[in-house]
Amino acid sequence: MKSTPPTPDGLPVLGHTHEYVRDAFDFIDRAAEAEGDAFTVRVLGSGEITVLAHPDYFEQALVAEPDAFRKSDDFDLAFGEGLASVEGEQWQRQREAMEEFFYPGRIRSYVDEMASVTATRLDGWDDGETVSLLTQAKALTLENLMATLFDRPLDPDGDAELRQAVADLNLWFKPTSWVLPDAVPTPSRRRFDRAVETIQSEARRMLDEREAEGTGDDLLSTMVEQRREGAGGLSDAEIVDQVGTLLFAGHDTTALALTYGLHALSRHPDVRDRFHAELDAVLGEERPTLGDLPDLDVTERILTEALRLYPPVHTIPRTTTRPVTVGDYRVPEGRLCHLSIYRMHRDPRFYDDPRTFRPERWREQSPQSFGHAYTPFGAGPRSCIGRRFALLEATLVFAMVGQRYELEPRDSLDLAPQMTTQPAGDVPVLVRDR
Ligand code: HEM
Repeated sequence: MKSTPPTPDGLPVLGHTHEYVRDAFDFIDRAAEAEGDAFTVRVLGSGEITVLAHPDYFEQALVAEPDAFRKSDDFDLAFGEGLASVEGEQWQRQREAMEEFFYPGRIRSYVDEMASVTATRLDGWDDGETVSLLTQAKALTLENLMATLFDRPLDPDGDAELRQAVADLNLWFKPTSWVLPDAVPTPSRRRFDRAVETIQSEARRMLDEREAEGTGDDLLSTMVEQRREGAGGLSDAEIVDQVGTLLFAGHDTTALALTYGLHALSRHPDVRDRFHAELDAVLGEERPTLGDLPDLDVTERILTEALRLYPPVHTIPRTTTRPVTVGDYRVPEGRLCHLSIYRMHRDPRFYDDPRTFRPERWREQSPQSFGHAYTPFGAGPRSCIGRRFALLEATLVFAMVGQRYELEPRDSLDLAPQMTTQPAGDVPVLVRDR
């Protein structure tokens, strides 16, 4: 008879709540070192959570037995009937309806639009100014997403309510709320509820507009068109939830990759020099085009390494639908499991000197050669639909920032994980014209 995954020592009622809420990453590191790749933590409000941190467990939960590991309830709360939360036939139908917007050919058509949106934002950076990387990156990725997928360019200095609402979606996952049952209306949860309403009403407005005025060929228009033609498309409610899902999943994550990558560059002058030399050789002062991107090897390695050391999605949550055997353990039915990307990406069994930002490690080895030990975009059927979109956007933005500016760090970097890997502060950097 197999036993359940071990539980580190904790307090009688509080369990590990205090340590987990104070610094989840530090706690997971210590627990994994003491207990191994599978262990259970007790957190008030969430109950028992089994943390899984081995490539074999990722393979099992995401690829081999996804039916035994369903999406956890938090996805429904945040994204309603959006692609990230639904299951079964509904997921299949939605994924098929949206996939064409994320194929390589389609993604490539976004390059010029993204480059132009990015240039507008970077024009606002002045030599000698301190900017918040986090704020700038989030603004930019939201602008790129709205312009390309929804054909609804944002006003660079306006649309404040929508921008704030999208930012507030993270509040559902504030660690101080974890300990309280979902029904308790904390101030951050109330702000979260208002944010969802704002986004839904903007989504409905865009939908009505497309219905009234006819449509283009962006993702939103196509969803509206398919439904109108009865071509097995999505319902109004599903389309509205899709907009919310994409707004969050498609901008916050890429913004974090940009923030961490650019901040790491600002702290590693040797890497930054190689990066600048590559940009000077490949691009000079010309705006990057699609044809340039494959030549940006140093830039690509910087992005790969930023996604390893600071995975924007640090944990993939799942709930078991039946008792499952995981390695030497038995995980009961209905157990919330956290597949810890963060922990795997920093595991010394898989990476030399895992806590150091070292893009050169990717010179000899490809991310694919690491299997599930490198999983920033998840794995299996539910892996990230926007992976190519994100990689293209991040490469382009890194290049355009590096062509024009050199960044100097203004603060150290601390992490404060919510649903995604948020930094503790704004990540300020000093901007210098190159
Ligand atoms: C660096 C940027 C990004 C990272 C690290 C990232 C990471 C992830 C991960 C780990 C998952 C799997 C979640 C799970 O299995 O529960 C996921 C799913 C998803 N991502 Fe991304 N993502 C990024 C960018 C994007 C972009 C740009 C979009 C859209 C424009 C997007 C849309 C989605 C959607 C809709 C899903 C759910 C897919 C499904 O369930 O079929 N993501 N992402």
